[in-house]
Amino acid sequence: MRIVLGVGGGIAAYKVASLLRLFTEAGHNVTVIPTEASTRFVGTATWEALSGNPVSNSVFHDVHQVNHVRLGHEADLVVVAPATADLLAKAATGQAGDLLTNTLLMAHGPVLFAPAMHTEMWQHAATRANVETLRGRGAAVLEPATGRLTGADSGPGRLPEPEAIFAAAMALVEGRQDFQLPLAGRTITISAGGTREPLDPVRFLGNRSSGKQGVALAVAARNAGANVRLLAAHMEVPPPAGVEVVQVETALQLREAALAAAADSDVVIMSAAVADFRPAEVSDTKIKKRDDRTDPVITLVRNPDILLELVELRNSTVRGEGHQLIVGFAAETGDSDGDVLAHAEAKLQRKGCDLLVVNHVGTDKVFGQDTTSVVILARSGSDPQEASGTKTEVSAAIISRIAFELNAVSPRA
Ligand code: CTP
Repeated sequence: MRIVLGVGGGIAAYKVASLLRLFTEAGHNVTVIPTEASTRFVGTATWEALSGNPVSNSVFHDVHQVNHVRLGHEADLVVVAPATADLLAKAATGQAGDLLTNTLLMAHGPVLFAPAMHTEMWQHAATRANVETLRGRGAAVLEPATGRLTGADSGPGRLPEPEAIFAAAMALVEGRQDFQLPLAGRTITISAGGTREPLDPVRFLGNRSSGKQGVALAVAARNAGANVRLLAAHMEVPPPAGVEVVQVETALQLREAALAAAADSDVVIMSAAVADFRPAEVSDTKIKKRDDRTDPVITLVRNPDILLELVELRNSTVRGEGHQLIVGFAAETGDSDGDVLAHAEAKLQRKGCDLLVVNHVGTDKVFGQDTTSVVILARSGSDPQEASGTKTEVSAAIISRIAFELNAVSPRA
């Protein structure tokens, strides 16, 4: 596929190098057209090296090739990222002062704008009108991500992560109407991995969680356009790019991080394996074998139930239930008191979360494996939903269920 990648003059231009790589690695032929202003952020040499094609934004370069007409005509897809307020205005009013704006006027295939600018610029009536105009003409304008902006403030206006723009672009080319990122503008906090509860400076009580499921969820949420915060307890896999990572070790640290992160999260997913108990005392020095041959006894105390606290906190705020979606995980084996689903139903009611993702565990199942099978239970009482496959596929199913629930209870502003 022939792709024209227009790069606007915003700080997020540096992220577009990753987007270009995603396109070229997928086998597409990409011509990059940076605006004059964008070359102050990323130089043309970067685009030439990464795309393998010559780069210019002048209509007076290679005039014999009539690039100002040809590039738009030949492109199967035009993507503009970051689409600044200035570029959106130029596109909406049909200006043709450089090669990129000429190409936009000549584009025959789908055109995707991935905006990035300060929140106030994004929300300004002029920008709103330009976006509406472009959408009215059939262009696809993504909702920006929400989160930290270039300065100290945060809000909607961040460039969606390259993987999310890539996913939207491919959906658009396939002719899908749902190219819009389902979690654009949403902030999702995901806990992952397993907590470690120290006994002494060298020992801890841990569990077998690898963090793969939590990381796969973070990737799926990021690719759906969300601003993702990963609360990472001990993990055997690295955190993905494009997500904010908060490292934690113990259940108490995770509790603190989760309660803080929940304050501005649309969704909290507790996929970490949290130790239910911790040693009552942590020795400052290594616990040694004793000469009298008596063995130490470890007393355990209960850790707070973070999921339960998150639900209580959410329900006690002014906006109350409905403004934040809380998702728990349950690892169940089933026993003489009930099967896996019976235990899970009871847990869902006990914890009061909105969705509970149920894993059937045994020693060889789930932990550290790449494939899994889950059932998603909803407190609203809808039928249990099954999902199975790789952790990536299962995570995509969980995230799209979350997006569905979220958009049903609190449609995007
Ligand atoms: N969880 C939590 N805080 C804890 C323990 C668990 O937030 N102290 C969360 C997990 O992240 C998961 C859910 O609660 O989302 C279920 O955890 P699980 O260990 O299966 O449930 P328990 O409450 O420990 O129930 P039981 O021991 O009876 O199975």
